[in-house]
Amino acid sequence: MNIEYADVVADLSWGDTGKGKVTSALVSKSKYDFVCRWAGGNNAGHTVFLNGKKYKTHLVPSGVFHGIPSIIGPGCVVNREALLSELEYIKECGFDSSLVKVSPRAHMVTDAHISKDKRKLAKKLGTTSKGIAPSYADKMARVGVLAKDALPAELIWDEVLYGKILCEGAQGFYLDIDHGNYPYVTSSTTLPYGACSLGIPPQKIRKIYGTCKVYDTRSGVDPLFPTSLLDDPDLSMLGDLGEEYGVTTGRRRIVNWFNLDMMLNAVKISGATDIIFNKADILKKFGKYKLFHDNKLKEFNRWDDFTSYISEQIGESRSLVNNVHFSGHSERI
Ligand code: IMP
Ligand code: MG
Repeated sequence: MNIEYADVVADLSWGDTGKGKVTSALVSKSKYDFVCRWAGGNNAGHTVFLNGKKYKTHLVPSGVFHGIPSIIGPGCVVNREALLSELEYIKECGFDSSLVKVSPRAHMVTDAHISKDKRKLAKKLGTTSKGIAPSYADKMARVGVLAKDALPAELIWDEVLYGKILCEGAQGFYLDIDHGNYPYVTSSTTLPYGACSLGIPPQKIRKIYGTCKVYDTRSGVDPLFPTSLLDDPDLSMLGDLGEEYGVTTGRRRIVNWFNLDMMLNAVKISGATDIIFNKADILKKFGKYKLFHDNKLKEFNRWDDFTSYISEQIGESRSLVNNVHFSGHSERI
C-alpha cells in the first residue's frame, strides 16, 4: 500500500503553541493510519486534552490517545528511561501503549549526553537538559547509538508508512537548527519539510497546519526575548493568565506581544496552508491587543480589529495560506 497523503502540524514560532490540541482535533475528525514524530526527543512537552482530562507527553506522538499507531521517526532522539516511563503512564491512563513504535534508525540519548548537556549547555543556552544536542552531535559524528541496538525488539518498527499520515511537529520554526536564532536553537529540523525524513516523498504532503499564539512566548535563553520583558507588568500578567510555564522544565516562559513580521516569514518558508492561532481566549480576557509589524508596535482597540489586521496581512503576503483560524481553549478547531 502506498502513502495517500501526509498532513503536517508544525509550530510557526518558538514552540508551545498548542500542536497537541490541533493534532487531537485533526485525528478525531479524519481517519489517519499513522501519527508520527519526525524530530526532537523528550525536550518537547505536549499537552493533550481528551474527554475533559489533561494528558502530558514528551516523546510519544499523540495518536496513541486516539488508538492510532504512533511512530517515533528516524530523525528523533530517544531516551530509553523516558520512553519506557511514558509508555507506562499511557498504559496507566487506560490507552494501548503497544501502538507506539520507534524507527530502528532513531538515535539514543545516553546518560553521558544528559550530563554533558547539563554541564556545558544548560546555563549558556537555556536547554532543557535532556541531552538533545550531545545526542545529535554524536549522530552527525557517526558515533551514535541506534534505537535498534538499544531498545527491546517489540518497540522497533522497521516498515514503510502507508495510507494517510499525520506528522506531529515538535519545538518550533525559530528553534530550527537552520532557521532559528543560532545558537539559541534546538538541534533538529523543526520545519515541516523535516517530516519527509519519516520516509514521505515531498509531493505527498497535502496540508501544513501552522500553529502560533496571539502573543509570543519563549522558553529558555534567547537575545530576541530579553529577560527584562519579565518585568513588564502587562506581559507578566498575560503570562499569568495564559499559565505560561514549560511543560518539560516548569520554567516561566518569557512573553512578548505577537510578532507579525516573524510569523509571516515563518509562514512563507514553511509553506503553511492553514494557520491556527491559539490562546485567543486569554488575550480577549486580558483585553489589550498589540502586535509588532514592520518592527513597530501597533495597538488595536478591539479584538476584531486585531484579528482582521492579521488576516489581511497574511492575505497580502501571497503565501499558500487558505485558512486562518483563531481559537480559544475550549473551542473546536
Ligand atoms: P534543547 O532542545 O533542550 O537543546 O533546548 C534548546 C532550546 O530550545 C532551549 O531554548 C529550549 O528552551 C528550547 N526548546 C526545546 N524544546 C522545546 C519545546 O518543546 N518547547 C519550547 N521550547 C523548547
Ligand atoms: Mg510543547
